[in-house]
Amino acid sequence: MKINPDILTTSDIYKLLTGVVVPRPIAWVTTMSPTGIVNLAPFSAFTFVSSAPPMVGINIGLRGGDLKDTARNIEAMGEYVVNIGDETMMEAVHRSAIDYHPSISEPEILGLKTVPSDVIRTPRLRDVPISLECRLSRTVEFGEPGTRFIAGQILMFHIRDGLCSDNKIDARMLRPICRLGGPNYARLGEIVSMQHVGDVVTGPR
Ligand SMILES: Cc1cc2nc3c(=O)[nH]c(=O)nc-3n(C[C@H](O)[C@H](O)[C@H](O)COP(=O)(O)O)c2cc1C
Repeated sequence: MKINPDILTTSDIYKLLTGVVVPRPIAWVTTMSPTGIVNLAPFSAFTFVSSAPPMVGINIGLRGGDLKDTARNIEAMGEYVVNIGDETMMEAVHRSAIDYHPSISEPEILGLKTVPSDVIRTPRLRDVPISLECRLSRTVEFGEPGTRFIAGQILMFHIRDGLCSDNKIDARMLRPICRLGGPNYARLGEIVSMQHVGDVVTGPR
């Protein structure tokens, strides 16, 4: 089967791409409005951007032609927290995507506790295994719907005790949430460990 994207609608392409790029991790982002309302929403167009400096990025689309609360707050405040939930938080992650009015604080509605961050004003979620305090680094707009790729520099890593040793996160212990196409999620399956590529003995190339 071949599909030429030129004949697809924007929503068809969204469906296709969100089925192709799987599984995706979820950035569960807390932001703060200029009036101090703490917002929370999940973003699975989420990736690692660079290590020097440490940076992560998320793609945020428009909603009805307007910026989503998260993008608006990040642009206004220049900071945000990327929280990483675990599989016990799947339902809360999903529910935090409901389009609440900007005056509503999702952590409050969902009964999720927040705690102050160390470096930025935006609080982080208290009970998640990982939170990354981020400062907005760059916003790049793509395409007609005006999707924004927002890259942020990590100013502080918060990692639950016991989850990280020698700077390596134990994925089995983290139990991350995997996002698939549609309203579908998965848990981590079998982990297959290989030799480090540098240690693999190769023949002539
Ligand atoms: C698991 C999950 C992942 C999502 N990923 C994205 C994403 O990468 N980009 C995006 O624009 N919206 C994404 N959404 C939709 C937003 O979370 C949703 O539009 C939310 O209402 C935005 O909230 P806000 O207006 O408070 O920022 C996702 C929703 C779910 C449930």
